Amino acid sequence: MHAYPIQSFGIDQLREVDLPTPQTAPGTVLIKVRAVSLNYRDLMMVKGLYNPKMALPRIPCSDGAGEVVAVGEGVSRVHVGDRVCGIFMQQWLDGSLTAEKSKAALGGDIDGMLTEYALLSQEGVIHFPDHLTYEEAATLPCAAVTAWNALHHAGDPATPAQPGDTVVIQGTGGVSLFALQFTKLLGARVLGTSSSEEKLTRAKDLGLDEGCNYKQRPDWSKWVLESTANKGADRIIEVGGAGTFSQSLRAARVGGTITQIGVLSGASTSDPVGLTPILHKQLRVQGIYVGSRAMFEQMNAAITTASLHPVIDRVFEYHQAAEALAHMESASHFGKIVVRVSQ
Ligand SMILES: NC(=O)c1ccc[n+]([C@@H]2O[C@H](COP(=O)([O-])OP(=O)(O)OC[C@H]3O[C@@H](n4cnc5c(N)ncnc54)[C@H](OP(=O)(O)O)[C@@H]3O)[C@@H](O)[C@H]2O)c1
Repeated sequence: MHAYPIQSFGIDQLREVDLPTPQTAPGTVLIKVRAVSLNYRDLMMVKGLYNPKMALPRIPCSDGAGEVVAVGEGVSRVHVGDRVCGIFMQQWLDGSLTAEKSKAALGGDIDGMLTEYALLSQEGVIHFPDHLTYEEAATLPCAAVTAWNALHHAGDPATPAQPGDTVVIQGTGGVSLFALQFTKLLGARVLGTSSSEEKLTRAKDLGLDEGCNYKQRPDWSKWVLESTANKGADRIIEVGGAGTFSQSLRAARVGGTITQIGVLSGASTSDPVGLTPILHKQLRVQGIYVGSRAMFEQMNAAITTASLHPVIDRVFEYHQAAEALAHMESASHFGKIVVRVSQ
């Protein structure tokens, strides 16, 4: 089979390599991968920025969808011919995250999905909604589950967003557009930032209520306050990281929730972050690390009921995997970038 193991770091170092096709063992499922979607994490992983000490070779990409082509002894959750996705953390099936459950993340701790065949535990796969193509389904495991968790769970005990809430999204990447789509299903209002007027217009077609260009208005928290009669947002889907966190603290309402997800602008900053809004507004800052299989199942039910389709920016062919990563690096995309592995 052909796969793209990271052998040394760098997008230009990524090469298709011929590897033996894995054989099923008891409890495992062999998947013919049809499509993979990219996450910012995959880009960092390939460039050696996520974990410079990661043992190589390692097949990248957490998110893939495919067809079950063989099952090992004792497998009952899926059958040959089923259409499935891998789950991001292979051991986080249900309940709260623990150190143990966080250990087997695809495309990081263990080999991922940028390969023609992937062998996963039967517990680590999930059926996806019937109305989705493989390309669409491949977008779900990381970005969509993360957005779902941030809106519907956001910690233990869960603190779900409510109808009528105001939710802020940042940029128009994978997590943010899923958060937009899921928030609209909830009957809540979405305010969104972007570097581009054109992307804001496209986001409005998906239901964005109001948009703000953060390049033109770096102090966009004032815009959120203006748009909420000075109250602030109920929930912020924080993907910007160190460069946006201070704005998020200012934009949140008293008692609001910041779901800390991403580090698009970096994980630290030379500008000090003033922490006092956290205490004065009794903010809840909740880290999000994707989500469990149970959350994925709940999300799939909502996607099915709403006949929702993920937003795909572009589908690349398998031999264009490096180009797809470079496209993500350019940040010109709107929604998810997909690599078609096989027809
Ligand atoms: N914690 C978790 O479990 C988890 C899960 C998934 C992703 N993440 C993290 O969440 C972040 C987003 O991931 P993704 O896969 O959705 O990324 P993505 O698809 O690559 O999103 C990139 C987009 O974000 C916007 N952006 C870039 N810098 C920004 C900034 N400083 N402020 C506001 N928006 C900015 C840009 O949109 P515009 O051009 O519209 O501005 C850009 O196109 C990444 O840091 C990723 O590692 C974390």
